[in-house]
Amino acid sequence: MESAILPDQFNALENMSQRFNTDILVIGGGAAGLTTALLLAEHARVTVLCKGDIASGSSHWAQGGVASVTDPEDSFDAHVRDTLDAGAGLCDANIVRDVVQGAPRAINQLAEWGVDFDVENNALHLTREGGHSHRRILHVADATGKAITQTLTDRALDHPNIQLFNDRVAIDLINLSKLGRNPSRCAGAYVLNLGSGRVEVFQSRFVILATGGASKVYLYTSNPDGSTGDGIAMAWRAGCRVANMEFNQFHPTCLYHPHAGSFLVSEAVRGEGGVLRLPNGERFMHKFDERAELAPRDIVARAIDHEMKRIGADCVYLDISHRSHEFIQHHFPNIAKKCSELGIDISKEPIPVVPAAHYTCGGVVVDEHGRTDLANLYAIGEVSCTGLHGANRLASNSLLECLVYGQNAAEKIISQLDRPQTVPYIPRWDESQVTDSDESIIIAHNWEELRRFMWDYVGIVRTDKRLQRAQRRIELLKQEIHEYYANYRVTNDLIELRNLLHVADLIVRSALKRKESRGLNYNLDHPEQTVNTTDTILFPGSTDQLDMIKTSV
Ligand code: FAD
Ligand code: SIN
Repeated sequence: MESAILPDQFNALENMSQRFNTDILVIGGGAAGLTTALLLAEHARVTVLCKGDIASGSSHWAQGGVASVTDPEDSFDAHVRDTLDAGAGLCDANIVRDVVQGAPRAINQLAEWGVDFDVENNALHLTREGGHSHRRILHVADATGKAITQTLTDRALDHPNIQLFNDRVAIDLINLSKLGRNPSRCAGAYVLNLGSGRVEVFQSRFVILATGGASKVYLYTSNPDGSTGDGIAMAWRAGCRVANMEFNQFHPTCLYHPHAGSFLVSEAVRGEGGVLRLPNGERFMHKFDERAELAPRDIVARAIDHEMKRIGADCVYLDISHRSHEFIQHHFPNIAKKCSELGIDISKEPIPVVPAAHYTCGGVVVDEHGRTDLANLYAIGEVSCTGLHGANRLASNSLLECLVYGQNAAEKIISQLDRPQTVPYIPRWDESQVTDSDESIIIAHNWEELRRFMWDYVGIVRTDKRLQRAQRRIELLKQEIHEYYANYRVTNDLIELRNLLHVADLIVRSALKRKESRGLNYNLDHPEQTVNTTDTILFPGSTDQLDMIKTSV
């Protein structure tokens, strides 16, 4: 039985005892989290948590834009077809149609909130990206994500019903049944306050995971540091199914330069005529696909990987130098600026590029409202697996998914807000058995080791043997991290490493189950596509040693 503690008693305890109470807890302040928070805040109290600041999610870094049919020459049917084609037979056709048809509404909502998409000749300027049969990408120059997140964050900060906390890292979800209570439902999360170092209890009626993807599991990635798959790992530990984790998308063109950090060169550069060249200047994409540079991403990334290995090159080149200086400054000001800072004038010379991990197509299994297997827990955005992307996401469909599912989840929750719910007592986080670590170096080494073997063995081209090698290393690291987690106080690095390890495990297990090459999963031991194929769904089974939650009553 749940013991009844009234909400205002919680409020009085807040801050003092590191307990917070809210109607809806949104974990993640990217495009998905902020969209849903703004819609829900018209009806309830919403708390949004971010690991860092506004730039800690991928949304802020999105370049190309948002796919939506707006041109009369284009059609929903064409957008649906392109999405299904890129998804290589694994998309859910009903979900694809719902999302594609929901796009204009989502775009109108963004425009209403204040996002100014680029306009040319009195019409929205539409760019093109790989796999799209029409120009249909709405954008704000080459910094679409920044324009969206800035607008949404400003509105959230101004909203009286939204509390936005930065520097809070959710550690684990609170599943009442795992605490020995019935019925099973999600009632909040344990959260590390990076400022105080204390673990806080955020209790809520509904929890929405909007924590983004997991591309940081690879050594080279286009993603910001926080993309460590926390939401996928937390949902898995809380008892939710996870699907299609083998489909890791590698973006074909990340800037290759020792001082570039993780910097993407948007697919829109190819959409506006950019071509790929080998170091000797030769073009090669036409040998791999008739759509050449505008083939879907899996094909382009694999072709580059193939050519780099064939000739032993460190990178290939993306050439947009045939376009005028004015055109480049107008459409790609940020890419041109970044390259210029590194001594590359993209209006005169080609850009050195390599593929890097970019997007997690799989994730927490959800229905059309974003509901997970655990009651009152939702997952939206890159953390989720909705059926939209199948075996390979079509460019610029991700921000779209964040917006549409942000709306879907909000609508479902709003329809349930009137239902009465008792407030259970949640035990505090137990730190009585742990000390501060004196061996943080282990964490740093394990991070490096994990990301490197994932890159080497579970990358663009896989084999069963490489996957098995990765699996053996994951088992060893699991033992080490379990011991570490049990004995030492949690830190951000430890939380993220534990999550990355879970994600790596899920990716390798899924890739080993898929005995075919499809979309982003290319395995030399199984080069063909099988006739009857389905999603790779993993069911949380017996307790894993990494599942331990530290609580005390
Ligand atoms: P994110 O935007 O990644 O946000 C995650 C949030 O969760 C962050 O606020 C983070 O702090 C928080 N968080 C994570 N873990 C925790 C935790 N444990 N506790 C508390 N908070 C946590 N897609 C497109 O459709 N079009 C594009 O043009 C495009 N360009 C891209 C360019 C780049 C460089 C990258 C990296 C991606 C791009 N993508 C693009 C993909 C797209 O940006 C992402 O898939 C999408 O923004 C994900 O949004 P999200 O809201 O799900 O998560
Ligand atoms: C890009 O601008 O190339 C990224 C687009 C995407 O990931 O959808």
